[in-house]
Amino acid sequence: MEELISLAARMLSGSNVTTVSTGAGISKESGIPTFRGSDGIWKSKNPKELASLEGFLSNPELVWKWYMQRLFTAREKDPNPAHLALVDLEGMIPHLTVITQNVDNLHRRAGSRKVVELHGNIEHFRCLECAHTADFDPEWDDRPPRCPECGSYIRPDIVWFGEQLPRTELEYAFDISSRSDTFLIIGTSGTVQPAAQLPIMARRNGARLIEINVTESAFTGQVDISLQGKAGEILPLIVNEIRAENSS
Ligand code: APR
Repeated sequence: MEELISLAARMLSGSNVTTVSTGAGISKESGIPTFRGSDGIWKSKNPKELASLEGFLSNPELVWKWYMQRLFTAREKDPNPAHLALVDLEGMIPHLTVITQNVDNLHRRAGSRKVVELHGNIEHFRCLECAHTADFDPEWDDRPPRCPECGSYIRPDIVWFGEQLPRTELEYAFDISSRSDTFLIIGTSGTVQPAAQLPIMARRNGARLIEINVTESAFTGQVDISLQGKAGEILPLIVNEIRAENSS
């Protein structure tokens, strides 16, 4: 593993444009559950019921309550050494962009500056019908509030299954991925589109791929370096190696 860590460190420190794609696995060590795998959220909950427009329309209170729980859970947790190592890395190499499928806001709280949130952010809300947007209001309770402009429901500003991703973020993600020299994939099963296309686009344009995951993912057979283990343990080792190299 040490050899692979050194190889990954050298690849990243020599990279001009670096993109990092993160999934739920990077937040696992913060205490936020992943979606798939033996202890994943979708093992005990139905995504159609809780993370789709149809689900929200058929039972607004149930879906609203679940997102309030997820919001309060995310706020109680802290960024872990993997999030913090990405912040360090951002200051050590020229152009690093974090593209995340996570909505837990932990990359921003850790201090990452260039974060592209493909699936939205648990702190943000919007009206079901009109363009009204809102941040969390402590007055809110277990029922979805009504939009002050048009009276429709307020909903989480999160991409639900079957919904379009935010256009600006998605276009930027495609663009930066296809311009990357190095593409680092951390803690994602690679099962959800279009996020799962990003590493493939990067590779098609000559990028070298590095993956950090505790198990194999949809990408593992296609990466140049596969680091099997916890992101919170491996990423700091890579960053420490780059720091040591820079100071020697
Ligand atoms: N370090 C690194 N990887 C980890 C760790 C860890 N400590 N713990 C788990 N993993 C890996 C798992 O092996 C798995 O490959 O993280 C990945 C998590 O996969 P998923 O649960 O499928 O999460 P993700 O890929 O982010 O899901 C994508 O699906 O439900 C939707 O919108 C939701 O954004 C989510 C999307």
